[in-house]
Amino acid sequence: MTADSFDYANRLRPDLPPAAVKYAGFPKYNFVGGHNDCDSVPVAELTKAAAAVITREGHTLGTYGLNSGPQGYLPLREFLVKKLKADAGITCTPDDLLVTSGSLQGLDLVNAAMIAPGDTAIIEMSNYGGAITRLKRCKANIIGVPVDGDGMSASALSNALDDCKKKGIKPKYIYTIPTIHNPTATIMTEARRREVLALSKQHDVPIFEDECYSDLTWDGVRPPALRAMCGNTNQVIHVGSFSKSIAPALRLGYLVASWPLMGNLLGLKTDAGTGALEQMILAEYAAKNFDGHVKGLRKVLKRKYDVLTEAVAAEFGTAAEFEPAKGGIFLWVKLPDSVDTFKLFQAAGKEGVAINPGVEWATDSTYGKSRLRLCFANPSEQALRDGVAKLADICHREFGVPVRSRNVQR
Ligand SMILES: Cc1ncc(COP(=O)(O)O)c(C=O)c1O
Repeated sequence: MTADSFDYANRLRPDLPPAAVKYAGFPKYNFVGGHNDCDSVPVAELTKAAAAVITREGHTLGTYGLNSGPQGYLPLREFLVKKLKADAGITCTPDDLLVTSGSLQGLDLVNAAMIAPGDTAIIEMSNYGGAITRLKRCKANIIGVPVDGDGMSASALSNALDDCKKKGIKPKYIYTIPTIHNPTATIMTEARRREVLALSKQHDVPIFEDECYSDLTWDGVRPPALRAMCGNTNQVIHVGSFSKSIAPALRLGYLVASWPLMGNLLGLKTDAGTGALEQMILAEYAAKNFDGHVKGLRKVLKRKYDVLTEAVAAEFGTAAEFEPAKGGIFLWVKLPDSVDTFKLFQAAGKEGVAINPGVEWATDSTYGKSRLRLCFANPSEQALRDGVAKLADICHREFGVPVRSRNVQR
């Protein structure tokens, strides 16, 4: 394709993010992004649901919002009311729910409503790259708080809040991914949730809770949501997603907030409604099938996790350290300090192995430098094994890690 000669260089806003590059297909070994296990997408049931709901209600597509109003298809919100009560202890009504185009739209709406340039946000130090880049784009002052095996460190959060107070700074929110944290795959314990909530109350700083992965704990059990534990008030804004439980390409997420805040967020949702067919089909499907589907998906993901961790242990040996994941789709790996995972990401990318370098998944570049995130949901079991072997070869060639004795033939 030839480049268009009409020049926009001087017409674009100066503060645009870096230009995207053209899609050139997935890499052979794709350990990035939140892609799901494609074989687990419930194609037959979604097809049946689509036929049933379109036959029954297809004419409502003639209105913006499907006769359900701007907050999303009512049966989907009704499903969520029941699901959130049963799984997360959240009490809400359809009025407290906004269906969004992926939970990313929820992040964008909350940031648009709350974060002005120079505002402060407290977030977990290792974090979802998309949350970090969004805050950077809002020109926020980001304070990273370490995560331990029990979730966001309460003592570090307390210090960060005290420090802000001393400086006369009022953070806009504390953003957390409590259940299957991205990228560490830890679960914030109930005790830790209580501490974090108490600090939020004490310092009068709301919590922004992102529960993208909470359906994917290995045992299917999750602690109550922070939103539930605070008494279902706007002390906690809650977002969730169907990307990880059903399919990311559906672009369906949701946000729980009470009015009047819901009205402020809704006022910023200027897309005239999230995709209607997706909402209708998902609601039709989920009412009968969601729990059974997720149960099966968890097993598939756990099997892939076992394959990945076995491959990492076999190929990297003691050079790769990681805490066992409690669910989800990622492994967060620490390599020796001598390895710069951004350079590894560049070298591996040229040879068809895509990884997420730690610096893009952390607020602290020193902490992130020798860490990387591997997403294991999408590759086949064979691709997981082969991809990790190839990554270890490249890492050995570039950094001498993992160390290999001379007589090892590959
Ligand atoms: C923590 C977290 N939040 C939000 C998202 C966005 O998900 P989606 O917009 O597909 O719902 C992701 C995606 O990976 C994520 O990891």
